[in-house]
Amino acid sequence: MLEEKTNDGRALKGECGVGHTRWATHGEPSEVNAHPHCSDDMNVIGVHNGIIENYQELKEKMIRKGYSFYSQTDTEVLIKTVDYYYKKYRMGPIDALAKTMVRVRGSYALAVMFKDYPGEIYAARKDSPMIIGVSEGESYLASDVPAILQYCRSVYYIGNLEMAKLSAGEAVFYNIDGDEIKKPLTEITWDAEAAEKGGYEHFMMKEIHEQPRAVRDTLGSAIHDGAIDLAAAGLTHEVMRGVTQLHFVACGSAYHVCMAAKYIIEDLARLPVQVDLDSEFRYRKPILRSDELVVIISQSGETADSLAALREAKAQGVPTLGIVNVVGSSIAREADNVFYTLAGPEIAVATTKAYSTQLAACYLIAVQLAKARETIDSERYAALIAELEALPEKIARALEDKERLQWFASKYAGVHDVFFLGRGLDYAVALEGSLKMKEISYIHSEAYAAGELKHGTISLIENGTLVISIATQTALYEKMVSNMVEVKARGGYLMGLTSSGHYSMEDTADFTVYVPVTDEHFMASLAVVPLQLMGYYISMARGLDVDKPRNLAKSVTVE
Ligand code: M6R
Repeated sequence: MLEEKTNDGRALKGECGVGHTRWATHGEPSEVNAHPHCSDDMNVIGVHNGIIENYQELKEKMIRKGYSFYSQTDTEVLIKTVDYYYKKYRMGPIDALAKTMVRVRGSYALAVMFKDYPGEIYAARKDSPMIIGVSEGESYLASDVPAILQYCRSVYYIGNLEMAKLSAGEAVFYNIDGDEIKKPLTEITWDAEAAEKGGYEHFMMKEIHEQPRAVRDTLGSAIHDGAIDLAAAGLTHEVMRGVTQLHFVACGSAYHVCMAAKYIIEDLARLPVQVDLDSEFRYRKPILRSDELVVIISQSGETADSLAALREAKAQGVPTLGIVNVVGSSIAREADNVFYTLAGPEIAVATTKAYSTQLAACYLIAVQLAKARETIDSERYAALIAELEALPEKIARALEDKERLQWFASKYAGVHDVFFLGRGLDYAVALEGSLKMKEISYIHSEAYAAGELKHGTISLIENGTLVISIATQTALYEKMVSNMVEVKARGGYLMGLTSSGHYSMEDTADFTVYVPVTDEHFMASLAVVPLQLMGYYISMARGLDVDKPRNLAKSVTVE
């Protein structure tokens, strides 16, 4: 739609511009609320990512000063405030931005253009992510590195309460006092091809197929000569022996990885693991002790709630570890230690390869903790590492079954509700499968711990309801099958997902999917693959925008 509106000959010509895909906070998604916003005389225009908390107060002040407002956005208020100080003090854009920043409460990544300063973009940042890239004769500004990777590889990380002036091929930085400051330029080593579709119809499908490589690289970064070494991430032998409890905190799919981590670490290393959603953790006044460790998992490293959770942990003086994909992102910079997942740039909104590499990172931590805490012997340690090293090839095998899943997905693309069931680690996988389904297919889906069925959920099952049951854990297999039988007795249509060898699944399920066998602690890496494919194929069959589902952003940089 934007393309239609801007390609009809009315588009402005020029070599300098700002744009923003708005996530609606103040004011509905509509043309009038769309960015950029401008001053009354259109001399100052800008875009903004974040939330201005005192926008009402500022708006009233600007109205008293004679400004009028056309939108419901906090961004319009911000731009008019910049315009006000620009005109009042006549000391240039940096001074106007600095004066605005002192009066504004909230978060912002702000990019502003002034008619009096053609060819220049002025930027300011507080708590919302922003990076600045420069190349020969060109400058770019974005929320994160993947957005500009196609155009440039040299990046500056602008800090909180800092400003910048961008001109062709150059960026100059200022502190809140307006004094010029120097920033190091970072070279991004990500492969440019990684940010292209490489022959696949969608980034999501490409990224699903990159999982064997991504998991191999991530595991390979810490496994050397048959042993795991996590010292670079601050997890030395002493730290692992001394830690008394872990807190895993994240949002969305990364939270599902935390759930899996709890099952795996508690079982293998016999160490208590607390799991929280970042948005809950940050406000629930968590009780943290200095001999514990808070682990924040985030692909983007910019999720607002995750960053706030990290800061809460740091404020309480607890050691922190970020498991992060984007190099140099806010969480990577602020956490005491970082373990980088090597997924490469993930473009599709629905995460796949980043999720899988986060799981891999947790396996490394679990196995090494178990070794350090002597809950496994050397033989078991070696066997687990051998299983980890075999995992990428098994993920590749799990991908081979995709034609059957495509067929099944096309048959069930019209359903209204899907339920995902699992027990133990399979429950964590069910949560991820359900999120993959709903976020890109817009089908209502829920994940339940199968043991909870009788406590209410089963009343939702009626003739033909699609129920996807995950049963990869041998100790829980029979219990899962009993739950499936209960669902079938109420008319549910059953897809069973298990590992090779559990062939009795076919006696109960209407459609069975097998994944290769691995150590059951690592089963989530294989079981998730058919569920990612299901989400993808159902979205495709419904003719939806797989890579950019409605209402969603790749990184959620506002609360
Ligand atoms: O960048 P992060 O890992 O912090 O993002 C967390 C969630 O927003 C993210 O996993 C989201 O749930 C995905 N869209 C799921 O596919």
